Amino acid sequence: MDLFSQLNNVEHEEILALRQELEQANYQYYVLNAPTMSDYDFDQKLRRLQDLEALHPDMFDANSPTQHVGSDLIGAKGERLKAKGTEKGKGFEQVTHRYPMLSLSNSYSQEEIADWLRKLPANVEIVCELKYDGLSISLWYENGILTKALTRGDGVKGDNVVANIRTITSIPQCLPITDTRYPIPAFVELRGEVLLSWEAFERLNKEREAQEEQLFANPRNAASGTLKLQDPNEVARRGLDCYLYYMLGDNLPANTHYDRLQIAKAWGFPISDSVKVCHNLEEVMEYIAYWDVERKNLPVATDGIVLKVNNIAQQEELGYTAKSPRWAIAYKFPAEKQLTRLNAITYQVGRTGVVTPVANLEPVQLSGTIVQRATLHNEDFIRQLDIREGDMVWVEKGGEIIPKIVSVEPRTRNQEPRPISNDRTDEGDKSLLLAPYSIFPKNCPECGTPLVRVEGEAAWRCPNEASCPPQIKGKMEHFVSRKAMNIDGLGSETIDLLYSQGLLHNIADIYALQQEDIARQERLGEKSAQNMLTGIEQSKQVPWARVLFALGIRMVGETTAKKIARRFPSIDQLQWATLEQLTAIDDVGEQIAKNIITYFNSLSNLEIINRLRQAGVQMESQEEEQAPQSDILQGKSIVVSGVFAHHSRDEYKSMIEAHGGKNVGSVSKKTSFILAGENMGPEKRKKAEALGVSILTEEEFLLMLNNE
Ligand code: IVH
Repeated sequence: MDLFSQLNNVEHEEILALRQELEQANYQYYVLNAPTMSDYDFDQKLRRLQDLEALHPDMFDANSPTQHVGSDLIGAKGERLKAKGTEKGKGFEQVTHRYPMLSLSNSYSQEEIADWLRKLPANVEIVCELKYDGLSISLWYENGILTKALTRGDGVKGDNVVANIRTITSIPQCLPITDTRYPIPAFVELRGEVLLSWEAFERLNKEREAQEEQLFANPRNAASGTLKLQDPNEVARRGLDCYLYYMLGDNLPANTHYDRLQIAKAWGFPISDSVKVCHNLEEVMEYIAYWDVERKNLPVATDGIVLKVNNIAQQEELGYTAKSPRWAIAYKFPAEKQLTRLNAITYQVGRTGVVTPVANLEPVQLSGTIVQRATLHNEDFIRQLDIREGDMVWVEKGGEIIPKIVSVEPRTRNQEPRPISNDRTDEGDKSLLLAPYSIFPKNCPECGTPLVRVEGEAAWRCPNEASCPPQIKGKMEHFVSRKAMNIDGLGSETIDLLYSQGLLHNIADIYALQQEDIARQERLGEKSAQNMLTGIEQSKQVPWARVLFALGIRMVGETTAKKIARRFPSIDQLQWATLEQLTAIDDVGEQIAKNIITYFNSLSNLEIINRLRQAGVQMESQEEEQAPQSDILQGKSIVVSGVFAHHSRDEYKSMIEAHGGKNVGSVSKKTSFILAGENMGPEKRKKAEALGVSILTEEEFLLMLNNE
């Protein structure tokens, strides 16, 4: 083969490999909300692919990532998300966009911006805007009323998430149709970005941490997960935000982009005050330089600047490529990156015994803060980066507040490569693997117990639940937390103190605390002792479902605990529950069921439960919780379907049970009626109509309960 053909072959393969890699990255980013590639790397690879495709037109493929935007579609079934176990996203109506939702071409240097400007007609006006880092949304207003809110989806079709969008208070539900200065067109579409503020993001992550749920990497991922939730009440609680940046439709007022945004503002839309018309490269650069600094004071994440040709006629002349408009371009701020030394890896033990490796870094300035610690997540992460103590590492802080180690700088490594041992011993339980010596400690750094790793899980754990100090303290902290037993006056510092004094060893000891034991402590005194004891006394009224959550059984979060408590109204019943009975409960999978069974197999746990019971902690539902509120739905089989505004779907199901009814999953001849929210599945509707089963709105249903 000649040299030319060889090169050709290599490039063909590179094209195929890049397509696959970028497709995978799109999927991770848009569907799973768990990006694996930085935006910068993605754009570099996409460019390389574009260049190669231009050199090899014979390789054209309409499915190449250069020809379409990534897809976040969930659609009516939501299978992809469900299969991966991310936040549930099923049952959204899919709607074809009136105008395809395109992306923007990105640039990372001022030269590229200058090049783009140079190619535009002379004296063109440029609108500069902030590039908000959330997810795009398209709002449809028909005769002034908000009727649909579509995600970008695959650019052609999107998911209608209007029920969730209605929870954003700054988005108008209807427009001022009496406005005579700027009459509202029969149809108008506003596009913008939905986001979660830094504050809301941090609050949400704190809650998730307390409940041992996976943390969101950044506000964008959190907003994306939130927008795809089925429960608008939960969406409302999380507090999404929105900025709009584009108006579309026929017969729109004004013929510049800027004026349209100002009209939209007059109609009540949230339009950013940062939008500015610039007339030359200098003004554009000034805008970029100003916002590169000032954006750090904004309540929401931004990742660049968007430049748009102001005049709509000029926009139309410039037109579009397959993926993006030629009349707009994004300038992305570079993620801040620093090189620093990894001084040591230490290991932290959490409440459930998970051992997390932590990088202790030579302190370094990054985006205005000093960074000296970063998580290394787990053993696999260390292996993937091939990271070793003493290495120089790149630390990045982009859209995320949490700094992360992105790579090792290979040129600075002067040690001998240290082989990673793969020795694993299969003694005893085959599902547990012993930690290999060289990469991860074999024993718990806190209590010395040999670590175990359950097959299929990334984490090494210390199995010494009963006496490993951070596990005991962590369990007590969880037990007293607000959503669990809510014991005021007993925070983590006090727990630490009382533990070190030998007064607390486990959660049951909390109820054995005596006034004089506490008051004797230097930092506490009489008053704190009294507050604490009152808090402890009040916790005896906490209902059984929350007590179950407070016990801290692995993976039994607040909602799961409620569902389990409903099925098993006392701990005595739960203690003997079988795997089959447990997995029959909504939301309880095999792993959770096994964790519950393991929990009750431990003698020390049984002893703790006994002591809690003797102390007066609620170990069963009170009669009024169990007793039906009425029998108005007695003998009725009811299907609950769709998205609701007043209560969550689960709340409606509980209401049905509390009024004597039965929840069923699918529509049949025996179905009494369907309680239907927004976006009820079209199949269900068809079947109901065919069988003559009546469909009630949530308002009709609530009225029915109130009228009994
Ligand atoms: S204009 C056809 N303006 O960035 C014009 N987009 O990478 C399309 N974005 O999908 C978009 N702030 O989700 C525009 N001021 C802004 C923006 C913005 C954020 C997002 C948007 C878009 C993505 C493109």
